[in-house]
Order: sequence, then C-alpha cells, then structure tokens
Amino acid sequence: MNKTVLITGASSGIGLNFSHKFAGSGHDVILVARSEEKLMALSQEIMNKYGVKAYVFISDLSKPEASKKLYSQIKEQGIKVDILINNAGFGLFGEFEETELSKELDMIQVNITALTELSKYFGNEMVSRKNGRILNVASTAAFQPGPLMAVYYATKAYVLSFSEALANEWAGQGVKVTALCPGATKTGFSDAAELQSSKLFQSGVMSVEDVVEEGYKQMMTNDKVVIVPGMKNRILTGAIRFMPRKMVTNIVRKVQERV
Ligand SMILES: NC(=O)c1ccc[n+]([C@@H]2O[C@H](COP(=O)([O-])OP(=O)(O)OC[C@H]3O[C@@H](n4cnc5c(N)ncnc54)[C@H](OP(=O)(O)O)[C@@H]3O)[C@@H](O)[C@H]2O)c1
Repeated sequence: MNKTVLITGASSGIGLNFSHKFAGSGHDVILVARSEEKLMALSQEIMNKYGVKAYVFISDLSKPEASKKLYSQIKEQGIKVDILINNAGFGLFGEFEETELSKELDMIQVNITALTELSKYFGNEMVSRKNGRILNVASTAAFQPGPLMAVYYATKAYVLSFSEALANEWAGQGVKVTALCPGATKTGFSDAAELQSSKLFQSGVMSVEDVVEEGYKQMMTNDKVVIVPGMKNRILTGAIRFMPRKMVTNIVRKVQERV
C-alpha cells in the first residue's frame, strides 16, 4: 500500500532527491522547507511525473514554534504520516570566536530541536499504530569532534546518538529508526556552510543520487540502524573507533583547514 512520507528540507540536495525517490516508488510526499517557489514547482513536477500526491508546507524550522505548527497543520488536513525523513539541516564553517552565534543557535534549532520535536509528534503516533519509519540525516561528522565546524559536528553527534537510542526503545513496537550518515556530498550544503575554501570538499565528494539510493535501499530493506553510504566513508568511520580521540580531532582539523 502507498505510504505518505514527510521530508524536511525537500527543496534542495538530499531532501529533493529523497522526494523524487519516494514519489517515484509510488508514495505520496509532504514537502517541507522555506523556499515556497521551489517547493510549489517540485510538487507540480512530482504529481505530473509520478501520479502521486505532493503536499507543500512552508516552514522555517529555525523558529521555535515551527515544528508544532507544522504538526498541527498536517493533522488539520487529516494526513497520516507513515514515514518521516528528518533531513533539513545546515552547517557553518569557521573559528568559533569568529562565527555568528545567531547562526549557530538557528543550526541547533533546525538540526537538533526540530528533528527531536517532529520525532516526538509523528513518532508517538507511529508507536500507537505499531507501524512507521523515521530516517534522521546525521553525517560522518557525527563520529568525532570537528574543529572549525565545532557546533555542526556536535549537532550531528546528537542526531546519531538520539537515533540509536530511539531505535532501541522502539524495536519490537513496529517503528524503525535509522540514522543516515553521509560524508561530503555534492549539494547546496558547502555553499550554505561557507565551506568553499575548506579542503573537506576538494576531493572524494559523493553524488547526491548515490547517497539517496543507498540510504533508501538500506532503510527500506534491512534492519540496520546506522547507514554510512560509500565504501570510503565506511572505512574512515570504522577506523576512527580504534584511534585516540585527540589524534582524530587533530586530523579533522587538518582536513577542514582552508586550502
Ligand atoms: N552535503 C553534505 O556534504 C552533507 C554531508 C552529511 C550530512 N549532510 C546533511 O544532509 C542534510 C541535507 O543537506 P544537503 O546536503 O542536502 O544541503 P542543501 O542542499 O543545502 O539542503 C538543505 C535543505 O535544508 C533546508 N533547510 C535549511 N534550513 C532550513 C530551515 N531553517 N527551515 C526549513 N528547512 C531548512 C533547505 O531548504 P530551504 O533553504 O528552502 O529552507 C534545504 O532544502 C543536512 O541535514 C546536512 O547536515 C550533508
């Protein structure tokens, strides 16, 4: 049976590709982001191309009341969310004493608080129905501290830890929780994070199509809680576990430094 999939950050990059992937597999989609024009055009394209429903909700998830409002609006329209993709998020590059605090607080609100609230509202309904899936987009950044992107790496460590704990709590209750941990991926992310001058995005960047394909396939077909797309990313995140944390932190700093 067709499911309804809510995707945050559907206007670009990984969320945009997930929207096509789920709609192309016959599911109705709920598209959420701030960019109204992009989402309206995307919903038309999806409905024409795949013959499914594509709802649009404009929401700035950095606003404290936004997640609750989004949940109420979806309930008011009588839409049941079967799958939640908590994908919206962004980073910020730079020395902590120079970065803008307001951007970092917005980041914590989007990457952590909104993701937690939406998991609570929609996840609790899934638990009472004994059916549902949540995919939280973390990052390979979740596995270690990240000098020069200190707040971003810390938000993703939260997403990974939170997702693994929820997956454990809800195992056996019909609700599957997954953390998708991509490495550097070609999307609008590096521009939004002001990362253009960092070494991180100079080589080994994965295509967004490959990340979404692997995330979708593994989420829908197996019980893995943590998905790291790409062999190179799996080797790196695996190796980190056996290295002293201070050494790993120093290596991340070198990789992140400006070219
Ligand atoms: N690209 C990478 O290298 C990479 C690697 C690991 C993890 N990730 C994670 O993947 C996720 C998606 O990022 P991406 O790479 O696809 O970047 P992207 O192309 O910049 O897309 C980010 C999406 O998040 C939405 N968003 C940002 N701020 C928002 C807000 N305040 N309210 C609502 N929506 C907001 C944006 O929509 P609007 O601007 O229209 O609001 C956009 O749709 C993020 O969680 C990111 O941390 C990315």
